[in-house]
Amino acid sequence: MAAQVIDGRQLAAELRAEVGREVAALRARGRVPGLTVVLVGDDPASHIYTRNKQKVAEELGFRSERIDLPATTSREELLELIHRLNADPEVHGILVQLPLPPHLDEAEVIEQIDPRKDVDGFHPVNVGRLWSGQPCLAPCTPAGILYMLRRVGVDPAGKRAVVVGRSNIVGKPMAALLLRANATVTICHSRTQDLPAVCREADILVVAVGRPEMVTAEYVKPGAVVIDVGINPVPGTKNKLVGDVHFPSVREVAGYITPVPGGVGPLTIAQLMKNTLEAAKAFWGLAN
Ligand code: GUN
Repeated sequence: MAAQVIDGRQLAAELRAEVGREVAALRARGRVPGLTVVLVGDDPASHIYTRNKQKVAEELGFRSERIDLPATTSREELLELIHRLNADPEVHGILVQLPLPPHLDEAEVIEQIDPRKDVDGFHPVNVGRLWSGQPCLAPCTPAGILYMLRRVGVDPAGKRAVVVGRSNIVGKPMAALLLRANATVTICHSRTQDLPAVCREADILVVAVGRPEMVTAEYVKPGAVVIDVGINPVPGTKNKLVGDVHFPSVREVAGYITPVPGGVGPLTIAQLMKNTLEAAKAFWGLAN
């Protein structure tokens, strides 16, 4: 039997609606959560991503601000801006869109963001809190995936989870969240030997490698939950995208599968709104 296809657009709409209701309740009490997105340079993909983030923030009632800086912005100028945003009581979430132009040190910039406003969950303080099981802001894509699993009724506890990809944005925090949810977690990467065999152990398989349709049916245990984080443009087409999972073959084997587009992607922005809401509530001393 073919897999159940997880509708990320629908789940994201529900998460946004949930966040929007809380924002409205806060606004009714005179409190407006605020998100500031900083974009340095003119990477076209980053422009689209930041515009989408801002649009959703506005729709849900956040105070939403975008600061566009030229690609020539100096380290000092960017750090000064971050320090100003750290000190601004109307700003509860700060997101510096990556990648930064090559003359700027991403790790240094992220470390200057107040961890309480780090809605990306990239600051070393949040990374440490994530791995040590403390309350934290967790990276949006993996946190959105956990929300998705919960909503389709998949509890990671006791299950074998395999994460393919070890990026700081997805792979590593995904592994941490699955571990926190009591899965038995394996992280795979480009040097993993016999990747298909390791993946076939997975009850939950999360793929975030950026290689179009790499994961085929031979990687998948029958009935497994397959989460595809890849977004790969198809060469020679205008806007067509494929994931890291070969959808047509894997859907015949898996129990659940996320499509591309319309799977994980929409959850990421919804989760960013959730993180911003949580950051604002913590700022005001309201229980989460
Ligand atoms: N660039 C690609 N993904 C992300 C993300 O999740 N956050 C930020 N800040 N930049 C990105």
